[in-house]
Amino acid sequence: MDRSRDRTAEPGIAFDVFDTHDRMSEAAADAIVDAAEGTQDLLWCVATGSTPTDTYELLAERPPTSTAPVRNARILKLDEWGGLAVEDPATCEQYLRRHVLGPLGVPEHHYVGFESDPDDPEAECQRIRQWLAEHGPIDLCLLGLGRNGHLGLNEPGPSLEPFSHVADLSAHSQQHRMLDEAERPPRYGLTLGLAEILQARQILLLVSGSRKQEALDRLVQPEVSTQFPASFLWMHPQVRCLCDHAAAPSSLSSH
Ligand code: GLP
Repeated sequence: MDRSRDRTAEPGIAFDVFDTHDRMSEAAADAIVDAAEGTQDLLWCVATGSTPTDTYELLAERPPTSTAPVRNARILKLDEWGGLAVEDPATCEQYLRRHVLGPLGVPEHHYVGFESDPDDPEAECQRIRQWLAEHGPIDLCLLGLGRNGHLGLNEPGPSLEPFSHVADLSAHSQQHRMLDEAERPPRYGLTLGLAEILQARQILLLVSGSRKQEALDRLVQPEVSTQFPASFLWMHPQVRCLCDHAAAPSSLSSH
């Protein structure tokens, strides 16, 4: 059954399948530019990982005139590996500096994110929670999908935390490919919570590659479970999921 929906008809997730990762990334870059247009100081929450890298690169290649609202956005880091030194190449911090902040020329004062190795991780989460309460909500939240259904580092479990928090990393997350180059393993995660993510005005979820097919197959079912955090996206009024053919289960048709 094709569970993709007409976004004007009902809340939930609208799925768009693209033939290739490149075409998905182009569409994602377009969607980000569209979302930014007309917003003076867009608050854009950004994921790391392999999925959005080409999208960021495409945005940076576009002429500054057509991407000015994106380049002028306030950038908020979605999550971070806790216990890694800030200069560790595996941190989300270094990823964002390499792929987003540098290439898009985002000024330092437009960027907010969890420190990777804070003295007091709980206080660091409280700092981000407070910042978001004062400066939010997020206008556009760009997410990737964990193979175990995590969003940010909101991991599957018997309950979920609504606000920014210190997360126990699942075995799955500890093997994330970003960590291949880590100087030491992370001890915990720092992440926005599901309520902060779901308060975003628009959510864009990118899913790419055959390794994600099982997770996407589950997400297509509109059943909400803390054991699959991404399913909470069904409760949001405006989520667009862009995926490539390799990730798409047969229940989703390409166009
Ligand atoms: C990690 C990151 C998330 C990312 C997810 C998917 O948990 N901390 O921000 O969205 O993995 O990563 P990938 O796109 O590499 O599959």
